[in-house]
Amino acid sequence: MQWTILGAGAIGSLFATHLLRTGQDVNLLDTRCARQHASHPMMLELLDGSFCMCELPCISHQAVSDLTLLLVTTKVWQVIPALEALVGKLPHSCPIVLLHNGMGPEEWLLTHFPQNPLLTGVTSCGAFKKDPHHIKHTGLGETWLGALNEAGTHYQSLIPPLANALGHAAWSDQIRERQWRKLVVNAIINPLTALYNQPNGMLSEHQAEVNALCEELHPLLIAESFTEPVTAWCEVIFKVAEQTAQNYSSMQQDLAHQRKTEIDYITGYLLQQAEKIGIKLPLHQDLYLKIKKLESTFTT
Ligand SMILES: NC(=O)c1ccc[n+]([C@@H]2O[C@H](COP(=O)([O-])OP(=O)(O)OC[C@H]3O[C@@H](n4cnc5c(N)ncnc54)[C@H](OP(=O)(O)O)[C@@H]3O)[C@@H](O)[C@H]2O)c1
Repeated sequence: MQWTILGAGAIGSLFATHLLRTGQDVNLLDTRCARQHASHPMMLELLDGSFCMCELPCISHQAVSDLTLLLVTTKVWQVIPALEALVGKLPHSCPIVLLHNGMGPEEWLLTHFPQNPLLTGVTSCGAFKKDPHHIKHTGLGETWLGALNEAGTHYQSLIPPLANALGHAAWSDQIRERQWRKLVVNAIINPLTALYNQPNGMLSEHQAEVNALCEELHPLLIAESFTEPVTAWCEVIFKVAEQTAQNYSSMQQDLAHQRKTEIDYITGYLLQQAEKIGIKLPLHQDLYLKIKKLESTFTT
């Protein structure tokens, strides 16, 4: 099995270098440029502060018909444009694994690659790309994969090499539930920390706002078959915020660096799901519009 990584940013480079150093066959694909370098040197800075130099092979568009496994680690809003270039070119035997925050591209994937084994995942690993050739592993985390279609259920064999490379990886038969749980945490921590421009620990000073956002979301969560009371959701959010108190959320970082955020696939996805069943989320809508307004000052 050869791992092709589409989107060698922070998470993609972290996975690529860890897989490579544990003996896996790994290469990088960029669907935006036709000409590729033969390889991409990457220094992996490990959690203990040591370094490991890796040479990541790059493959060209011509090689797409030979792919055996595609791991997509772009930002969520880049997934569809990145994969559009592969429609009709990727062999039907090639599994596609999505690994991003937010939800939404799964439905597009099921429609456009119906014959491929399709999987999705969530990860709480932390990585920071210091420069194009230097990836810093910033936090151990859990990585869960699960199937999006029947063909995807046959790829539990991806778990041992991932677990060996990352320290943790596991299979989930309830991957959609895991995605939803992460989505809810992200939908509260990310926009609030981005708007207040503060690290995650700030949530403890905004308890009423967090409680109100959870309460508003609760009918949608019940409709999605989550049975726990609203207080349980609040507790999870405050716990994550406390455990990551010094960290800046990805949305805060994106806005601070004038980059497009993942809000359309986090809060935007929740708003779409709520609208489908006639639930109104005015507080979340307000957060969404505020982030979009800030984003519009530097995106076209
Ligand atoms: N970083 C973390 O610690 C972390 C932790 C958990 C989850 N996540 C999630 O993981 C996802 C990726 O995050 P990230 O921090 O790794 O983002 P990132 O650093 O921006 O990485 C995305 C990479 O994909 C590249 N890309 C975009 N379109 C491409 C294409 N068509 N072909 C090849 N490469 C393409 C981007 O290149 P350009 O920069 O040139 O556009 C960028 O290098 C996000 O959903 C994020 O929320 C991140």
